[in-house]
Formats: sequence, C-alpha cells, structure tokens
Amino acid sequence: MSHTIVIFGASGDLTSRKLIPALYLLSKKKRLPENTRIVGMSRTEFSHDAWRSELKESTAKFTGDKFEEASWTQFAANIYYHPGDLTKLEDLTGLKSFLEEIEAGPAERIYYLSTAPRLYVEAIDQLGASGLANQEEGDRRIVLEKPFGYDLDTAKKLNSDVNRVFPEKNVYRIDHYLGKETVQNMLVMRFANSIFEPVWNRNYIDHVQITVAEEVLVGRRGGYYDQAGVLRDMFQNHLLQLLMITAMEAPVKFDADMVRDEKVKVLQSIRPMDEAEIRKETVRGQYKGYLNEEGVPKDSQTETFAALRLWVDNWRWNGVPFYLRSGKGMSCRTTQIVIQYRQPPLTLFNKKDRPIDSNRLVIQIQPAEGIQMQIQSKVPDEGMSTRLTSLDFRFCQQYNGELPDAYQRLLLDALQGDASLFARSDEVELAWGIIDPIIKTWRSDKAPQLNLYEDGYWGPTESADWMAEHGRQWFDVCPVLH
Ligand code: BG6
Repeated sequence: MSHTIVIFGASGDLTSRKLIPALYLLSKKKRLPENTRIVGMSRTEFSHDAWRSELKESTAKFTGDKFEEASWTQFAANIYYHPGDLTKLEDLTGLKSFLEEIEAGPAERIYYLSTAPRLYVEAIDQLGASGLANQEEGDRRIVLEKPFGYDLDTAKKLNSDVNRVFPEKNVYRIDHYLGKETVQNMLVMRFANSIFEPVWNRNYIDHVQITVAEEVLVGRRGGYYDQAGVLRDMFQNHLLQLLMITAMEAPVKFDADMVRDEKVKVLQSIRPMDEAEIRKETVRGQYKGYLNEEGVPKDSQTETFAALRLWVDNWRWNGVPFYLRSGKGMSCRTTQIVIQYRQPPLTLFNKKDRPIDSNRLVIQIQPAEGIQMQIQSKVPDEGMSTRLTSLDFRFCQQYNGELPDAYQRLLLDALQGDASLFARSDEVELAWGIIDPIIKTWRSDKAPQLNLYEDGYWGPTESADWMAEHGRQWFDVCPVLH
C-alpha cells in the first residue's frame, strides 16, 4: 500500500519550516514508509519543479548541516504540487483526479490542514463533498493543528463538524509538545522503571510545578496573540498535556485509546472552580511594553503570563496542588516539571528552625533535556551539615546527536496510523472545560488584577508572593546548557 501526504496551505510557513524538513529527515533516515509521496496544495501557482526548488532552499536552511544533496534529490522526486483553493469543490475534485493519477493504485492518505483555522470547517466539508474522505477507497486521515476551537462551544462544534466527515480514529490533532522526546520520556521514566511509581503520589509529594517559560516576546504575532492570550495559546493544550502525562495512571497497554483514556481521567478529576476560587487560585500578568507590540490594542487586557493552582481530586493526588505557569518575556527559555517531595519526618541534621530543603525531581523538557534528582548529601568536613546535590541525567551525554524535532515523530505516527500522541476530541473538550471558566472570569468585572511585569524575570512579583502565601517557592532556575 502506498501513502500520500497532502498538505493544504502548502505555501505557508509551517510547511517550509517544519513539515518538509521533518519529512526530509525521516526520508534520509529511511524511516518513511516506502512509496510515500507528498502533494502540496495552495492558491499560489507553482510548477512541481518550482515548488521543489523553493522547498530545497528552505529545507537546507532549516536542517543545516544535516542537509545533503543526494538524499534531497531522491526525496524531492516524490514531491508534487497542485494549485487550488481548498474551499472550492471543483478544485478538490481536480485534486482527487490528480491524486488518483499519481497514486496509480490503492493508497492511504493523510490530509494535513496547515491553513488558517478559520478555513477548517469549510475545508473539511469540501473534503467530504469531493469524495476525498471516502474511507472505502483506502484509509483517509486528517491532521489538524491547534487551535481546536476558541472555547468549549466552538471546540464542540469543530469536533462534530470533523467527525461528520472523518471517524474519530482518523482525526489527528497535533499538540507538538507530545512529539517532544522528553515528554515521551516522562512516560518511559514513570512506566518503565519501578522506583518512581511507589513515591509518585500524595503520600510523598508536596506539590508539582509545571513551568513553560519563554524568553521571547510576542513579536510579530501580536494580532493573533491578543485574541488568544496565554491561556488559549499555552494552557489549554501544552500545559494541560504536561499535567496529564505527569498525573495519569499507567495504561494497560501502550495503545492510542488506552493512553488517552487515562489522560482523560486526569482532566475529569480536576476540581472545577467558581469565580471566587478563580480569583484565589490564579495570577494574571502582562509584560510591560506589550501594548506597544504591533497588532495589540493600546488598552489590551490580554495576559502574557499566567499561573494557576489546580487540584486533581483523585485517589493518587488528593491534596497535592499542581502549580502551572507560563509566560512570554521570562528569564530564560525553559520547560520543566518539578516534583517537590515532602520534608523528612524529623529534622536530625539542621537547626529545628531551619528545615532542610526537601528532595526534588526536576524533569527538564527543554532545553538541556534531562532529569535531575536532587538529594541531600553531607558537606565534607563540616560536621553533619547537609546540602542539596544533584544526580544528573542528560540526554546529550547519554545519547549522541541532537534530539529530533517533534514533527518527525508526529508525522511518522500519523503515517503509521498511531494516534497515541495526538489529542482526542473528549480530551480537547475537557481541557476547554477547565480553561474556559477562567477566561470568562478574567474577562469579567470579577477578574483578579492584571499584574504588569518587566521582561527578563520570572513574571510578575505577585506570582512569587502568591506562592509564598502557600508556604512555597517557584523553582526559578534556568537550565545549565552544555
Ligand atoms: C505554540 C505557541 O503552540 O508553542 C507559541 O503558539 C509558543 O506562542 C510555542 O511560542 C512554544 O513552543 P516550543 O516548542 O518552542 O516550546
């Protein structure tokens, strides 16, 4: 069986920056299934060769020293371009004939919507109407990029529109965080080792911190960002995914639905909050200077930073707060999950009024991918004084070579029909169900104050004060790069 990946929105940035470089590197590593072809479609007119040479240039730029002339030539022979407007039925019928001609036999297809999200529904309808989604002619999968809706209602509508044309098992919603090696390594760390699980619960853990800090500001994305804000842009998807992977139970098998069933249970256990609780459990921030960004209204109240305290009310986690924070204009780029263990029951080695720092497991998702287990050790020649020291695992020291970009793994999984690392419709809706009420309160007259912060630090000082009120401290440490 041959495979065709059809990219709609082929002349866009995502295609040249991420999709084609990822497919090229897979092909160079001989990981692409044999007989895989790529067909681009957008309104711009290109010949096959003109598109190939555009892609050659961008792929060379984005793959750097991994780019090789010979493997590119081999890969590019399977790239085609078919101009058209995906909202026009006749263009899609034309595409269908073109695909049948080049496939010359049965083929599985992936339709990748790398287009503006406002075109999703129309595009899906036309895929249905043109017969391109006819599952009887071969497996037809659809890949969607976020955002999956703008809120719970629009997400539900989008899901039902998609599912009218594609069965849920053939819908691949990309959250590129799930394609990151270190996010998958969380599953391996938790479920391929036996030493962590016994202490991965309320009996041993004081709290969990999930931080996705970005040094960059919104830059030229002001127009989009101002409509979204950090909760839609980062929390509804990436941060909640990290929370699910951290908190989920072991699935019975590594099977798409079994993994996702366990993740969904985590979202179902998150304690809903009313307005008063939202005021107490969240911190909002906006970096100074945000109002001067291109495309941002001068009186915008959009948040570029948020911190939330969520409670997972289930047997394993009852009473353990999960602190989530993310922002633009932070000290450094770091995504990390910190499992903060409880204090030992007795203070033997320090003064009673100065309890020792408790153990911490720091999972560095990016950059400096790795895991540090922080444990107390005896400081030599200083009586019985102790210090927190680190057992340090780093991917770059254990494995040669750079970690592959998330899109390689996700595209390959989509080609192989494995949806484990893609968001399912119920997952997306439950995630909106958690984020929506917070956004609604933040947009109402009950909103907690919007704290301004200087860029280059860890968000507003109110975020640190809020943690201190809970008797806790953020782990404000930038990873050491080697
Ligand atoms: C995207 C957001 O989904 O993720 C961006 O829209 C954000 O605002 C990006 O910068 C972060 O991804 P990464 O992989 O660089 O951490």
